[in-house]
Amino acid sequence: MRVGVLTGGGDCPGLNAVLRAIVRKGVPAYGHEFVGFRDGWRGVLEGDVRPLGIPEVRGLLPRGGTVLGSSRTNPFATDDGVDRIRGTLAEREIDALIAIGGEDTLGVAARLHDDGVPVVGVPKTIDNDLGGTDYTFGFDTAVSIATEAIDRLHTTAESHHRVLIVEVMGRHAGWIAVHAGMAGGANAILIPERPFDVDQVQAWVESRFRAQYAPIIVVSEGAMPLGGAEVLQSGQTDAFGHARLGGVGDWLAHEIERRTGKEARTTVLGHVQRGGTPTARDRWLATRFGLHAIDAVQAGEWGMMAALRGTDIVMVPLLEATKELRLVDPALYAEAEVFFG
Ligand code: F6P
Repeated sequence: MRVGVLTGGGDCPGLNAVLRAIVRKGVPAYGHEFVGFRDGWRGVLEGDVRPLGIPEVRGLLPRGGTVLGSSRTNPFATDDGVDRIRGTLAEREIDALIAIGGEDTLGVAARLHDDGVPVVGVPKTIDNDLGGTDYTFGFDTAVSIATEAIDRLHTTAESHHRVLIVEVMGRHAGWIAVHAGMAGGANAILIPERPFDVDQVQAWVESRFRAQYAPIIVVSEGAMPLGGAEVLQSGQTDAFGHARLGGVGDWLAHEIERRTGKEARTTVLGHVQRGGTPTARDRWLATRFGLHAIDAVQAGEWGMMAALRGTDIVMVPLLEATKELRLVDPALYAEAEVFFG
């Protein structure tokens, strides 16, 4: 078979490890040939390809980002998107597609499967908010980076008696904030799933200072105050209709300074969380997803996605995985709350 592979959406540590696993198994075990599409669905729409053989995946296991490039192109944003995709697959004699991505990229894959395109999915996102799988790769790396940042910020918070706010990624789900906040000993963790009460945050800050410590607050970019809205970096939206978030940390710092008279500063981790080499766990997960994805292609399991359930990799329908985002469980948040204030 000739198999096309693409990586779409925000880049994520572990993407290259998936490519390596797919090719390293697919060539010797099944005799498949691979074609890499550049920049996600854009490459499929425009027939923009690059070679993807064993020589091209050498050295990729620890490498961050994606050698295929990525974009947030949405083929369904144009009327002829599906026809153009079919055209590219026919022209390049491609028998199957492996789409590696998050809710948007895999949402497109699910719709294409409905239209009869032979596609298999691999879940990635640092946000860890994809349904159908316990974890996505990239998340563990993002949590490690955010935890290290929190550890480092504690010393400045204590030395200067400041409130330090760490703004982490997480558009709709607060997984990074909850995991890194718990690991880093945050005094408040604010997540999109639970609008926060600024009076309560102020009370936590004041109680932390009374205990002769300085507060660290971890806030997801998508968190919002009760009765308020998400803080946007710009009014622009991407091809899937997502606004660019950012700024809730600064908003909160200003509010805390105004209410408490204590100096409050924000560190926005931004793309640092998505950069660099994947952790061992993300390499392990990405590699296993890649191996199971190419097995699924060989078995003709179209419309399925590799997923982690416990320690097993299983195949689940793309449609099921992309139906609903996986949000932070209130019981987990309650565990984190024990340490607030
Ligand atoms: O979807 C992953 C993610 O990192 C989100 O946490 C974040 O909101 C978004 O991507 C940022 O996207 P971009 O890098 O395109 O601005």
